[in-house]
Amino acid sequence: MTATSGALHGRVAIVTGAARGLGRAVAERYADEGAHVVIADTLIDEALDTADDINRGGGSCLAIETDVSSSSSVAAMTTAVRDTFGPISILVNNAGLVADLPRQPFDEIAEDDWDRVMAVNVKGMWQTAKAVVGDMRSAGYGKIINVSSDTVLSGVPGLLHYVSSKGAVWSFTRALAHELGAEGIRVNAVAPGFTETAQRSPMAATPVGAASLAALFLGLRPPTT
Ligand SMILES: NC(=O)c1ccc[n+]([C@@H]2O[C@H](COP(=O)([O-])OP(=O)(O)OC[C@H]3O[C@@H](n4cnc5c(N)ncnc54)[C@H](O)[C@@H]3O)[C@@H](O)[C@H]2O)c1
Repeated sequence: MTATSGALHGRVAIVTGAARGLGRAVAERYADEGAHVVIADTLIDEALDTADDINRGGGSCLAIETDVSSSSSVAAMTTAVRDTFGPISILVNNAGLVADLPRQPFDEIAEDDWDRVMAVNVKGMWQTAKAVVGDMRSAGYGKIINVSSDTVLSGVPGLLHYVSSKGAVWSFTRALAHELGAEGIRVNAVAPGFTETAQRSPMAATPVGAASLAALFLGLRPPTT
């Protein structure tokens, strides 16, 4: 653990999709700040490894297999969180389909793939917010942070379902912030730019792969060789 302020001491924070990548970094940081952190992810083996690492470092972390697109899975997860740590006061809606999505022309995206991206990246945020808001209302305190993407501004080609879903996250966040703000529950979004994570590193490790990634997130045509 790094020396920190302990600003989140005793808070219970759920970070969805934190088995790896950006979510993992958030979970590690929250643990450093004293929060009880829950990793809610479909990748349970990676989630358990991440939780073990955090706990070995002196943090307090629990991994729970969760599919954010399923209301029953989310309900089971939040029940287990309350049983273990108590009421939930922070939710980071980070889970998203992104790293594994192939880049393809918009008219070749399969209908099932479109639906799945919306179910995870947009509906998942709604499901998790609904499942935690009762605790936040009771406490008159809560933070909900939704992860969007700067691709909303650059409009990268080849990922229409993903970019559309991240645009929806912006409007979802604004509307929910207006609904909940008066109750002491703050709802915000962050829109990261391209961030290299372990998941992306194999592609970034080759010159063509790195150029393709850079082009992708700048909205340019990728190199052909
Ligand atoms: N890395 C970037 O460059 C970048 C840039 C902008 C925005 N983002 C956003 O940040 C978030 C994290 O991205 P990342 O790069 O770490 O991706 P990643 O693929 O490494 O991590 C995403 C995590 O979400 C989990 N997940 C996927 N579907 C799920 C589901 N149905 N239920 C629960 N968990 C699920 C995955 O198992 C994985 O652990 C995503 O929302 C992504 O859109 C990333």
